[in-house]
Amino acid sequence: MNKGKFITLEGIDGAGKSTHMGWLKSLLEGWGYGVALTREPGGTPLGERLRDLLLHRDRRLNPETEALLMFAARREHLDKVIYPALDRGEWVICDRFTDASFAYQGGGSGVSIEKLRILERWVQQDFQPDLTFYIDVTVETARDRLGGVRHADRFEQEHDGFFQRVRGAYLARAAQWPGRIRVIDGNRPIPDIQKELELNLSIVCK
Ligand code: ADP
Ligand code: TYD
Repeated sequence: MNKGKFITLEGIDGAGKSTHMGWLKSLLEGWGYGVALTREPGGTPLGERLRDLLLHRDRRLNPETEALLMFAARREHLDKVIYPALDRGEWVICDRFTDASFAYQGGGSGVSIEKLRILERWVQQDFQPDLTFYIDVTVETARDRLGGVRHADRFEQEHDGFFQRVRGAYLARAAQWPGRIRVIDGNRPIPDIQKELELNLSIVCK
């Protein structure tokens, strides 16, 4: 059986990733593929517990501790969920993956890129998503969209300068890997964005 494809969604908080997850699943199922939706941090019982610790609004961890926990959750996620689903021939759509560690812990919080690369190699060797959609919005747009969130989590409480750095790190990674990471202008209406997601998926993966 052919291996499935691994698709990841990235963007700053409020970019609109979660909005497209279910839609992407329906689209791919319509093309005849089995699809698993998952997210990081999370996706396994351990990962979801780590997610609670990492996103707790009153807890601020050392950024390197944060990075180590993100990659620990990822190791478990790959082993228990992502690799088995791909081996069964399913497509896996993951709300955030390793690009988020480079953008948030690296760009946002200043953890050294060399240390993150060591963790990346340790945890996933050469494994990378087949395709990553980076949904790019301005920090102002993201703030407006999250305006209705009553209990912002630990990251959503960060100041605009933090998110500018995270966005800059995402854009730099997208420029470094233009084949894998597609920059999608997320400031547009949802149907326009989904048209572009569909076009990219049909070209790259069908
Ligand atoms: P994320 O998962 O990236 O944090 P969400 O998908 O939860 O973002 O979207 C945040 C908010 O913005 C939601 O209320 C959602 O309905 C809204 N939203 C998402 N995409 C768009 C868009 N293209 N235009 C307007 N509002 C959007
Ligand atoms: P997210 O799933 O986007 O939260 P929400 O459901 O509120 O949209 O993301 C959780 C947070 O975790 C997000 O602020 C980014 C952060 N994060 C990192 O800092 N590093 C990582 O490696 C990952 C996967 C997420």
